[in-house]
This record gives sequence, C-alpha cells and structure tokens, in this order.
Amino acid sequence: MRLMESELDYWSAKALLEWQVELGATEAMLDAPIDRYGLEDQKPKPGRGPEAAPLPVKPKEADPVAEAQKAAQAAQALPSLRAAMEAFEHCELKPGARNLVFADGQAGARVMVIGGAPGRDEDLEGRPFVGQAGQLLDKMLAAIDLSRDRNVYITNVLPWRPPQNRDPLPGELAMLLPFLERHVALAQPDILVLMGAIACQAVLGKRGLSRLRGQWDQVWGKPVLPMLHPEDLIRQPQGKRQAWADLLELRARLNAQN
Ligand code: URA
Repeated sequence: MRLMESELDYWSAKALLEWQVELGATEAMLDAPIDRYGLEDQKPKPGRGPEAAPLPVKPKEADPVAEAQKAAQAAQALPSLRAAMEAFEHCELKPGARNLVFADGQAGARVMVIGGAPGRDEDLEGRPFVGQAGQLLDKMLAAIDLSRDRNVYITNVLPWRPPQNRDPLPGELAMLLPFLERHVALAQPDILVLMGAIACQAVLGKRGLSRLRGQWDQVWGKPVLPMLHPEDLIRQPQGKRQAWADLLELRARLNAQN
C-alpha cells in the first residue's frame, strides 16, 4: 500500500518507517512491480549450496564461418559441395530465397567467372547470370570466343539472392567465402574473372573497382582478373571501352598459356 505524503506528518511517517524496519522490511516500494516468481529461478536453492542450483548455461552459438569451412572441406566433388550448401542453415539469406544458385556452364573450364549475387531472374531459375546482365555477359564472352556452353564456368559469391538485391553484409560474405574457395578448388580453372565490386571485395578483400579492373592479381594460387560487372556497363555504357580492353587482356592470357 502506498501512502500519500499529505496523509502523514513527519513524525507519524518516521514512526511508521521505524516500525517497518523492526519488522524486517529491507526495501522501499518501487514504482514498478517486481516479478518475484521470475527471480525465483535465479536464486540458489536454500541450504544446498551454489552447486545444487547452477545458473542455466547458455548454449554456445555455432560460428557460421567455422561451420562453412567444415562443410566445404568435407565436399570432395561439385555435387557434394552443392549438397553441403543446400544443407547450410547459418545464412539468413537462404530462407528468403527461392533457389540456391550454384553454377552454370562447364565445370573444369579454363575460365571461371565469379559474380556477386543472384538477382530476381537467377533466384527464379536457380542459375547465375540469366537476366539482363547475364545476356550482356554472354555477348562479352562471345566476343573473345568464350561461352558457357563450351568453355566457361560461372558462379557467384552468394548463392542466395539478398532481399531487394541489397548489398551483402560482411558477415554473409565471410561465411560464404569458404564455399567459394572450395568451389574454385574443385572446378580447377586456370583463370578467375571477378565480375564487379562485390566479387573483388569478397575474393581479394579490396575495394575500388575502377582502380582494380584490368590489373592481374593472384588468389588461391590462381591468376585473377577483376572486371567491370555487366550491370555497371548497363548503367554506364562508357565503361564498355575498358571492358573491351579487359576482355582482350583475358584472351591474350589464355592464348599465352595454351
Ligand atoms: N549479377 C551477378 O553478380 N550475378 C548474377 O547471377 C546476376 C546478376
């Protein structure tokens, strides 16, 4: 019960307080009620010592990167890698996507193209680069006698479409990278082509595509060529000159390694 200040004079209030202290009251009443039943579980059981009533131990959360590394390393061939990715439950993109977008083209081809993330069309079909950007990619490859039907293998950093095509989060890139690295190891290309900023960020850990494009780099023991993404070229057609130069560079490297 709360007593209003105006109902008590100083001396009565003091006497009341002293009487309550004598009775064993140790706490003033608070504005908000305390759920004593809720607190009960946290108290050690009387008379049995702290060991008798341990605090509940929070289960250790799985480390998604470590889980991805374990699952990816266990895969000995591309179909089992695909199955491992289908079974991976730690990425929040998965429940929002319709399909896993694994790869397209010729596994074992000398050129492996790595894009960023599937868009709407890719999500619907379960194949990378099938929308407008994919059609432009096919034309770009054809200009240097490459094609997914004969001599190119294509995948993405992310196998699931992000909601509203948003950029991937750093945590998502980190947990999906072990699968990509294993994908490359199992597909055994001679050369990697990184299409766009997300692929460069994930695979090279570098930003600044306009600086990176056309410059050979090295990753996972393979030569890597960053290029402007076909989506960049659709948005900014003036980039096509640079893309053409990079395609010629790729063709020259393939011819030289023949
Ligand atoms: N953009 C990509 O990076 N990958 C696709 O599969 C489609 C669009």
